[in-house]
Amino acid sequence: MAARPADMRRLEQVFLVNEPRVELRVFSGAEDLARAAAAEFSTRARTAVAQRGRFIVALPGGSTPNRFYALLAGGRGAGTGRIPWAKIHVFWGDERLVPPGHVDSNFRNVNEALLVQVPIPQANVHRIRTEGRSPAGAAALYEQEVRRFFTLPAGRFPRFDLVVLGLGADGHTASLFPGSDVLREDTRLVVAPLVSKLGTHRITFTLPVFNNARTIMFLVSGGQKSEALARALHGGVGSDALPARLVRPRDGTLIWLVDRAAARKLRNASLGEAAPEARRLNPSRT
Ligand code: 6PG
Repeated sequence: MAARPADMRRLEQVFLVNEPRVELRVFSGAEDLARAAAAEFSTRARTAVAQRGRFIVALPGGSTPNRFYALLAGGRGAGTGRIPWAKIHVFWGDERLVPPGHVDSNFRNVNEALLVQVPIPQANVHRIRTEGRSPAGAAALYEQEVRRFFTLPAGRFPRFDLVVLGLGADGHTASLFPGSDVLREDTRLVVAPLVSKLGTHRITFTLPVFNNARTIMFLVSGGQKSEALARALHGGVGSDALPARLVRPRDGTLIWLVDRAAARKLRNASLGEAAPEARRLNPSRT
């Protein structure tokens, strides 16, 4: 397919990775990745509100999503179209054990980059309350809030409309780190693992919560993530326990939005040329 010059900068390749509802989209750079993420968020928000009356999303920390947050804050001006903020509920996939005003707070990061700039009701902002609590206490409180919000019967998991995740260079996602016992958690919604390499606790949703979502969207940018991304997608020695590889929606869609630098170790994943799998699985997309 010869790409028209005007599209070249925005050229993205969409191809299905040999699993029914997994999509990998490679962008020429972080800006186009962020724009695609903002478009996905706003489209899914409008659809969810139209179908179910509300849109429930879990957002990540880290630096990669910051441009995405800025574009959502820019709203129509940033090309996202109308975003129904009054019907959107925001949760966090994980949090650091710091007060909400701390520079490392994931709540503070999203609040300043996005939430204070859009008409979302305060009651729709569901942050992880860490202040004055033990790690286990903060996790238990958040689990209670999530169970109450979703009116969850015992043993059931919440179903988020969209979970947005990042990827660490070691393959961690949210605060689920390689080798952590919490990767095997199959009952609790929220846990407070001690992350030995960081020397601190984190508060994080568990894999069953993420894997019960309708849509999971990874945002991955930069060459330093290329090894972890290749292992998450292609597997390989010792990759089966890679936290990001364990993110598999049970009955939902998994979307990887990555830039060219992050995609450089992916087999056949280069801009402008569809991968063999894509041609075999989806002739119409190439
Ligand atoms: C956090 C995140 C974490 C993050 C990755 C990637 O609290 O830090 O939830 O999982 O997404 O570490 O971080 P960067 O986007 O900064 O590379």
